[in-house]
Amino acid sequence: MNQPVDRQLLCRIEDLSDPGSRGVEFLRDGERVSAFVVLRDGVWRAYENRCPHTGAPLDWVEHQFLDADGALIQCAVHDARFDIEEGVCLAGPCPGARLTPLPIELRDGAVWLAA
Ligand code: FES
Repeated sequence: MNQPVDRQLLCRIEDLSDPGSRGVEFLRDGERVSAFVVLRDGVWRAYENRCPHTGAPLDWVEHQFLDADGALIQCAVHDARFDIEEGVCLAGPCPGARLTPLPIELRDGAVWLAA
């Protein structure tokens, strides 16, 4: 028998435009974890808000995780750029490094963390 899935609400679908991003928080072992949800061309992804370069948060403006074109995830600290689908650094000080992905599911008009 499957274990019950511990789902946590990250955001509502209408909270994001396409392309768009939104900072969120969830609980892991009782601790708040900073994360973000991104949407581009109908593809949803979520990552922890921690740059693999130094561990710093990526955003400098609330909910702003994408570059000016909305094409790449951008770290505001040293300008690393990551592809949206895989979270791999394509340019900047940590090429090839990856953001930490989070499993999500879309249900009932919302984005949920699927643990
Ligand atoms: S902390 Fe993100 S690029 Fe340096």
